[in-house]
Amino acid sequence: RMEMGPEERAVDRLRDAEKAALRAKHLTQQLLTFARGGIPVKITASVDDFLTEVVDFALSGSNVTYKLVMPDKIWPVAADIGQISQVIDNLIINAAQAMPEGGAITVAVENVTVGDPAPLPLKKGKYVKLSVSDHGIGIKEEHLAKVFDPFFTTKQKGSGLGLTSAYSIVKNHDGLITVDSQLHQGTTFSIYLPASPGPVRKKGKSRKREFTPRTGKILIIDDEEVVRDVAGRYVRHIGYRPDLADGGKRGIALYETALKKGCPYDAVILDLTMPGGMGGKEVAKKIRAIDRQAKIIASSGYSTDPIMSKFKKFGFDGALAKPYRISELSEVLETVIGGKAVISKQ
Ligand SMILES: Nc1ncnc2c1ncn2[C@@H]1O[C@H](COP(=O)(O)OP(=O)(O)OP(=O)(O)O)[C@@H](O)[C@H]1O
Ligand SMILES: [Mg+2]
Repeated sequence: RMEMGPEERAVDRLRDAEKAALRAKHLTQQLLTFARGGIPVKITASVDDFLTEVVDFALSGSNVTYKLVMPDKIWPVAADIGQISQVIDNLIINAAQAMPEGGAITVAVENVTVGDPAPLPLKKGKYVKLSVSDHGIGIKEEHLAKVFDPFFTTKQKGSGLGLTSAYSIVKNHDGLITVDSQLHQGTTFSIYLPASPGPVRKKGKSRKREFTPRTGKILIIDDEEVVRDVAGRYVRHIGYRPDLADGGKRGIALYETALKKGCPYDAVILDLTMPGGMGGKEVAKKIRAIDRQAKIIASSGYSTDPIMSKFKKFGFDGALAKPYRISELSEVLETVIGGKAVISKQ
């Protein structure tokens, strides 16, 4: 069992990353903000109001199932449901990826009272502990101390930001995330969230509405890997499910397949300048030819591009000037998916 505080190392690594890979200074700043998860907007919530929805969604279409162990009378927690859902989503996806052959994950919830002196680096008090256990590949001992570091990944296509953001979000909740792993046996990640003394906000329509519209699918087409990664992370963080395409051809193919399968994308974020491949305008045209209802957001690093200011005239539903912040992305997505046109202020 290990508890880690990678804050300093995190900043260091981000600095290295800036030198090595991120040409845009701005982007590092965004990553840092992102890695810290932003300030949580907490409400008093009951875990079972959102847990199954998040787990079901994270595992949909995979060969992994799950067992939920949750006794009655779990205390309510003070939490930002969007952020905590994001943490759970990350843990579940990691667990599923650790079991490429499939299998079952266990999701367990329990009440924990931390005494004085606390056996864990937590203040004395009541917590709800939520654990995700898999029987997957496990984590090598020398990697255990690194899993929360930004950009630490053993996956070919991993960003290594999933657990970093989980760590920051839980920390911003005055909670704790721990990991316990046995190579080739499996891994358990646990989060502790402070229990809330307040009454649970009534489960009802208004609450559902807050969360449900954020479960759409977004296609991100950008030839720059860093931008794709960050945009994908942002999109996931907000609650939407991202798919990434490194160019127009791949993007169009993904769009067509999704449409044929009856689960079309709710919106496309399309880079306008992709030298070498098909340009953004052409890609938009082709997507529109497949689906007249497609919602396409133009994204460009050149805010002077006439498409950015007159996106409607050019057949786009919105525009995002790069680099954009997560709040701008969220606003544009919600408005575009909701039907109105919007441009991000930059
Ligand atoms: N359940 C798990 N079983 C085995 N290894 C894990 C598990 N969860 C995390 N890891 C290890 O920790 C690393 C970091 O995880 P993290 O979620 O931060 O990034 P990632 O999964 O590699 O990338 P991304 O989240 O962007 O897909 C992983 O690459 C993997 O080596
Ligand atoms: Mg991950």
